[in-house]
Amino acid sequence: MNRILIRRATCVLPTETLKIDLLLDAGRIVMIDPARHARHDEWIDAAGLHVLPGVIDDQVHFREPGLTHKEDLRTGSMACAKGGVTTFLEMPNTRPATTTRALLEDKLALAAEQCLVNYGFYIGATGANLEELKLASRTPGIKIFIGSSTGDLLVDDQAALESIFAETRLPITAHCEDETRVRANAARIGGGRRVADHSLIRDAEAAAISARRAFDLAVRHRHRFHLLHTSTALEVALLREYKSPLLTAEACPHHLFFSVHDYERLGSRVQMNPSIKSPADVAALWEALADGTLQVIATDHAPHTLEEKAKPYPDSPSGLPAVENSLALMLDQVSRGRASLGQLAHWMCDAPARVWGIVGKGRIAEGYDADLVLVDLEKTATVRDEEQLTKSRWSPWHGETLQGWPVRTLVGGRTVFAEGRFDLAARGAEARFDPGLGGYFATG
Ligand code: DOR
Repeated sequence: MNRILIRRATCVLPTETLKIDLLLDAGRIVMIDPARHARHDEWIDAAGLHVLPGVIDDQVHFREPGLTHKEDLRTGSMACAKGGVTTFLEMPNTRPATTTRALLEDKLALAAEQCLVNYGFYIGATGANLEELKLASRTPGIKIFIGSSTGDLLVDDQAALESIFAETRLPITAHCEDETRVRANAARIGGGRRVADHSLIRDAEAAAISARRAFDLAVRHRHRFHLLHTSTALEVALLREYKSPLLTAEACPHHLFFSVHDYERLGSRVQMNPSIKSPADVAALWEALADGTLQVIATDHAPHTLEEKAKPYPDSPSGLPAVENSLALMLDQVSRGRASLGQLAHWMCDAPARVWGIVGKGRIAEGYDADLVLVDLEKTATVRDEEQLTKSRWSPWHGETLQGWPVRTLVGGRTVFAEGRFDLAARGAEARFDPGLGGYFATG
């Protein structure tokens, strides 16, 4: 592997941002600010650009196997490369669902053939696969749908949940929306006919009831737990109430950028589970990111075709694609002064690496993997459906002009995307997880 010198980069390091050079070798960052004459085979002129650690998106749905008309590992990973995402962790609600070690290994083998960026896959809980969950390895953790969403994975039974939290060792993460509450809400409003009813059916209390149930399980069984797609001020309050080092949580761009007022403009494009909520909930999520109650931003990239989305509610599926725009959306917030680059790198790179104990990732530091993204903070571009790489070919941010875009993505020191072009021969690597790294708070 070439020794590569990235020159004149403004590097977002863990505690400061400095204009320095970076030396990469054999897929790693070997020297921060090496002498100019450091031996190298190739150099990249990064003058005028910022270098961030590659984004780690710990919640995507790439639909392979089984639903590849929506997305597959190839298109999903290309969308990642374009968006500056160098590692993704994928959810188990494919067809078949990833609920055994054998199916997990099938996905890993497929990813090794198909993915341009690094990858990892959760194992899904069914309520009847405890042995598989106990014995699983090569996975960041166990995903439980405590509330149902796309697919048929659901574990709502208390005894089954108690066993999973009591008897497994991998970190647990969950989709939290209370089934009983969601069904009662739906019955009360006659199933819902307008897409805006989605937020009445999957309301804030549904999310909070379910999150409390999961936090209670995690704390009683002393089990690491990560709350996916926090969407409400109520969940934020619960996280503050529990204030447990066992608990971490994340927010998604759609919950940070959309509210119930957007149904009128965007219809089922913003139909998601958990649903989008009120402007007050949106404000609470931003505050919680700022004060560290929420540690991570991840997308929940969940593509469906526009034809599927055009079905009248409630037949329109829940989910939206986001992986190729999440970094640009957040860079745009940096350009507007709402967040700093350091905060962005924390929420999107370092924190997910700490939460999941991903070895060698999330920071620009010597010895870490050379998963990097060069961004142009001055570049302005408009998100367009027709330019999306996701197989679903649309974005809920269609028509929005953002300032600050990824322009070059390196995975293990190799440029996989630059100025609109891909290195299609490149392959990412399987992410390695070290539970010994402990939870987010344990590693600081
Ligand atoms: O809206 C959603 N869609 N939320 C999820 O959690 C799953 C996802 C999907 O897979 O379509």
